[in-house]
Amino acid sequence: MKLSAFAQFAGFGIRTILFRKKDPILGTIILTDRCNLQCKHCSVNNITAVIYPYRQIKEEMQQLYGMGVRILFFCGGETFLWRDSGKCLRDLVLEARQMGYLIVNVVTNGTFPINLPEADLILLSLDGDRTRHNQIRGDTYDSIMENINNASAGNICLYMAVNQLNKDAIRDVCMTAKHTPNVRAVSFNFHTPYPDTQTLALSREEKAKCCDVIAQMMQEQVPVFNLRSAFPYLIDNRFPTPCHQCVVMENGKLSTCGRCIDVPGLCEKCGYFFVAEYTLLFQGNLKIIAEMLRTYLKFI
Ligand SMILES: C[S@@+](CC[C@H](N)C(=O)[O-])C[C@H]1O[C@@H](n2cnc3c(N)ncnc32)[C@H](O)[C@@H]1O
Ligand code: SF4
Ligand code: SF4
Repeated sequence: MKLSAFAQFAGFGIRTILFRKKDPILGTIILTDRCNLQCKHCSVNNITAVIYPYRQIKEEMQQLYGMGVRILFFCGGETFLWRDSGKCLRDLVLEARQMGYLIVNVVTNGTFPINLPEADLILLSLDGDRTRHNQIRGDTYDSIMENINNASAGNICLYMAVNQLNKDAIRDVCMTAKHTPNVRAVSFNFHTPYPDTQTLALSREEKAKCCDVIAQMMQEQVPVFNLRSAFPYLIDNRFPTPCHQCVVMENGKLSTCGRCIDVPGLCEKCGYFFVAEYTLLFQGNLKIIAEMLRTYLKFI
């Protein structure tokens, strides 16, 4: 990360903590909900299957930038399916950079060739070893690993959503992250139980066991892009929600924190690590602040 970007984030953090501000810094733009997969744990694919037009996405990028957002995520559906008006995902990343976003990340299922060297991080979903990943995501593991190996840059961060089907495969994903060239880190979420996927939710004890494994992996020098100090809050779901510093834009609709904000009762069961990490950070939790500084400077 450039020093000037770091200074801007530090200034934002200090203002937010001291004056209890609720301005956003992290924004996600949903490019489409169309997807080539139908993962067992996912409730947001192919509801409309519309690819949102380039002009609309560009306006949303400008709107979020105007609101002060400086960390931008492109998400879906499957982001690599997005193209419109002669533009593709890579063009959006380049335009976001030119617009002044300080960090530009993309989330993908990794089933398409990866040529996005300009993205800071490509969060690529890998949900276990071959067997458990394929159980959740269809027969995709081998082609994803091939795409990772052929990627044009080493900016990939594996992204695992831990649920009942893959809770025992955390170590496998960590080892893949550690030993695969082009993979810089691995980041975790716990399953967030939408009404149609409640059976995949983890109990408190299961979450505690998973956090023990992740902590062990951190000790074994696996590059984990999460904050250990947030684990106790994640295990007990006792972090504040929603995250006011995060916003999501989908098809012109702006939501605070996640598009899931409208699902009744879901925030109390939220499994997204970023929500715990950001809300605790902006509450001024000193352990989180120190660990976030170390972690972000290492991976971005
Ligand atoms: C919705 S997908 C969109 C991007 C891309 N299609 C992919 O799979 O990475 C974004 C991330 O959300 C995760 N996810 C989906 N449903 C979830 C849930 N209920 N709880 C936690 N993570 C979830 C996916 O595993 C994926 O890592
Ligand atoms: S690839 Fe992503 S958007 Fe598609 S079904 Fe799986 S988690 Fe959902
Ligand atoms: S806190 Fe609520 S809105 Fe935010 S990600 Fe979790 S479930 Fe979604």
